[in-house]
Amino acid sequence: MMMVTKSVQLVVLLVCCLTIITIQCANATQNPNLFNVEPTIVHSAVSKGAVCLDGSPPAYYFEPGFGDGAENWIVHLSGGAWCINVTDCQKRAEGSSGSSKRMGPLQFQGIHSKNNTQNPDFYNWNKVLVAYCDGGSFIGDSEYIDPSNNRTKDLQFRGQKIFYTVLEELLEKGLKNAKNAILAGSSAGGYPAILYCDYFRDSLPINSRVKCLVDSGYFVHFKNPVLERFWTWRFSGVAALQGAAKTLPKSCTSKMKAELCLYAENIQQYTKTPFFLYMSAFDNIETQYTLGDEKYKAVDEGLGPESMNASLREMRSVFLNAIPKRDNPKHRGAFIDAVHHHTSLFRRWSLEVALEIDNVLAPIAFADWYFDRKYYYLVDEKHTMPIKNTIKNTTYYHD
Ligand SMILES: *[C@@H]1O[C@H](CO)[C@@H](O)[C@H](O)[C@H]1NC(C)=O
Ligand SMILES: *[C@@H]1O[C@H](CO)[C@@H](O)[C@H](O)[C@H]1NC(C)=O
Ligand SMILES: *[C@@H]1O[C@H](CO)[C@@H](O)[C@H](O)[C@H]1NC(C)=O
Ligand SMILES: *[C@@H]1O[C@H](CO)[C@@H](O)[C@H](O)[C@H]1NC(C)=O
Ligand SMILES: *[C@@H]1O[C@H](CO)[C@@H](O)[C@H](O)[C@H]1NC(C)=O
Repeated sequence: MMMVTKSVQLVVLLVCCLTIITIQCANATQNPNLFNVEPTIVHSAVSKGAVCLDGSPPAYYFEPGFGDGAENWIVHLSGGAWCINVTDCQKRAEGSSGSSKRMGPLQFQGIHSKNNTQNPDFYNWNKVLVAYCDGGSFIGDSEYIDPSNNRTKDLQFRGQKIFYTVLEELLEKGLKNAKNAILAGSSAGGYPAILYCDYFRDSLPINSRVKCLVDSGYFVHFKNPVLERFWTWRFSGVAALQGAAKTLPKSCTSKMKAELCLYAENIQQYTKTPFFLYMSAFDNIETQYTLGDEKYKAVDEGLGPESMNASLREMRSVFLNAIPKRDNPKHRGAFIDAVHHHTSLFRRWSLEVALEIDNVLAPIAFADWYFDRKYYYLVDEKHTMPIKNTIKNTTYYHD
C-alpha cells in the first residue's frame, strides 16, 4: 500500500517536473481551482510607444476558452492603486506594477476559474487579465524625462496606448469574432472599464453581447474637504503626470479640471454601453484613503468614535448619490453590499464565499444581468454601517 502511494507520488512529481514549472504543479496538485498563468509579453507594443512605466513592453495573462465558451471573452483590467508623483512612480517602475521585467505567473481564480460549479456562467470563456504597469488606470499618454540625464530615471505614462495595443492583439487572437464579451476592471482598473466600454463595444461584432463590469473602482468625489483631501492629493498627481487633460474625453475635461474627470461619476453618463457596478458602500480602499490607513481596524470592528461613524454614514450617502440611478437597471446594474472589503472578482466570486443581498448572490446577480435574464440593481439597505470582513486571506488584492 505504502509502496503504491509512493510510486504514484513519484510519477506525479516527475510529470510535474517535466511540465514547465514546479509552482504550477504544486498548486495544481493541492488545489485544482487555483492555477497559475504565465504572462504574455506584448513585444510588438514597444514600437508603438505602448510601454510600462520603465519602458518595458506591456503584458497580459491569457487562459483560452473551450467548449461552448470558445467564442466568449472576458477582458479584465487589473488594478493596484496609482503612483502619484515622480519619486513614487520611479519606485513603482522597479516592481511588477511598473515593469513587465518583474512579472511572474498569476493565480487564476474566481471569475477566472475553470470550475463550472464555482463559476457556472464563465468557466469556459477566454479570460484575459491585462497587467497594470502604467501607474495611472490605463489613461495616460505622457512621459517624464529626468533632468539628471540618467535615462533609467525616466518614466513612461502610456496606459492609454497600452489599452489600445493590447486590445488590438486580443482582437487578432479571436476577440474580434466574440459572441459574448465583457470588459471588466477591478479597483484602479474599474475606471477604465467605464472609460473604454464603448470603444470595446465598437471593436466587436455588431450582433455580439457586450457589457462592462466595474469591480470596486467607482471612487467618489466628496465635497466635504475632510473626506476628500487624500483623494484630491492623489488624483491631481495622477492627472498631471499622465497628461489626463489631453487623454480624457473632452466632454468632461471641457467642463471641469482633468483630475475631477478621474471620478467615475463625472464620465459614466457618456458611456452608452451597459455596465454593472459591483462595490461595497464601505469599500476598504475608499475608507482607507478617506479616513486614513490607521482606521482599518476601527472600521472593521465598529469601534470608532461617533465622529467616525458620522463620516461613514456620510460616505455611504455620498456614494449612493454618485452612482448611476436605479431607474434603468438594464443600462446600469448594481450590487452594492456593506461589507468592509475591496474587489470581488477573485476571492469573493465562488458561490461558497460570494456576498448576498436580499437572498441574491453577487455572481448570480451579475450573470443574470449580463445574459438579460433579470436586471438587478441591488443595494444592501439593511446595513447602513460597515459589516466586518471575514475573508481576508487572498492571493492578490485586498478582498
Ligand atoms: C469545483 O468546485 C467544487 C465546489 O467548490 C468542488 O467541490 C470541486 O471539487 C471542484 N472541482 C474541481 C475539478 O476542482
Ligand atoms: C509622493 O508619493 C508618495 C506615496 O504616495 C508619498 O509618500 C510622498 O510623500 C509623495 N511625495 C511628494 C513630494 O509629494
Ligand atoms: C541612475 O539611476 C539609477 C536608478 O535610480 C541608479 O541606480 C543609478 O546609479 C544612476 N546612475 C548614475 C550614473 O547616476
Ligand atoms: C459606531 O457604529 C457601530 C456600528 O453601528 C456601533 O456598534 C458603535 O456603537 C458606534 N459607535 C459610537 C461611538 O456610537
Ligand atoms: C491566512 O492568513 C494568516 C495570517 O496571515 C496565515 O497564517 C494563514 O496561513 C492564511 N491562510 C490561508 C488559507 O492563506
